[in-house]
Amino acid sequence: DIKGFAFDLDGVITDTARLHGQAWRQTADTVGTPWTAELAESLKGISRLESLEMILAAGGHANDYTEREKEALADEKNKAYQELIKTLTPADILPGMGDFIRDAVAQGYRLSIASASKNAPAILNNLGLTKYFIGIVDPATLSAGKPDPEIFVRAAAVLDLPNEQIIGLEDSAAGIKSINAAGQTSLGIAAAGVLPEAKLHFTATSQVTLATIATKMNQ
Ligand code: BG6
Ligand code: MG
Repeated sequence: DIKGFAFDLDGVITDTARLHGQAWRQTADTVGTPWTAELAESLKGISRLESLEMILAAGGHANDYTEREKEALADEKNKAYQELIKTLTPADILPGMGDFIRDAVAQGYRLSIASASKNAPAILNNLGLTKYFIGIVDPATLSAGKPDPEIFVRAAAVLDLPNEQIIGLEDSAAGIKSINAAGQTSLGIAAAGVLPEAKLHFTATSQVTLATIATKMNQ
């Protein structure tokens, strides 16, 4: 039986995947990498420095910057991103997600956050959702990011539940791989066909409820 949920944050609870994209697009312009929908999609779930490496590589600039310059580019992106997330309020919770989170807690499920973002605690706070989660995995303490299972395995430790009793919610391909490799049940939220490896697939956050999950689990 499912007893807990491990949530990705960006693109699952709030539409910050779009804000990350907006900030990275400026970085891509700075380094001269063409910005494409495919590149934007591939960056979802990927840590800040790895994302920068991917943007550089996509434009053939993998060896054009020193470590110090790369850190400066990543800092610049983060500053732009932090300006964008400053204004987030509970009104920015994606449709249905606030109700789903409150219902799950009311029904006795345990909730944790498995986000690659170092900004996750601030965002959850701005959304007014911190109190619903038992804990947040600190991505700074991971030896490998998504698609490695480590972050979701750590989220299970936070919940104090075995992996088999956990559903992981994700909007990224890297995150779905991480959940599957951890031995949890993956729930993907994306356009039809985008997350083929997700065990349970939803095309919108508004469709994610305890009832619809139960139905899909039994299919
Ligand atoms: C993930 C996002 O949740 O966090 C990525 O999907 C982002 O796009 C990553 O790069 C790291 O976020 P931050 O806030 O630590 O730069
Ligand atoms: Mg995400």
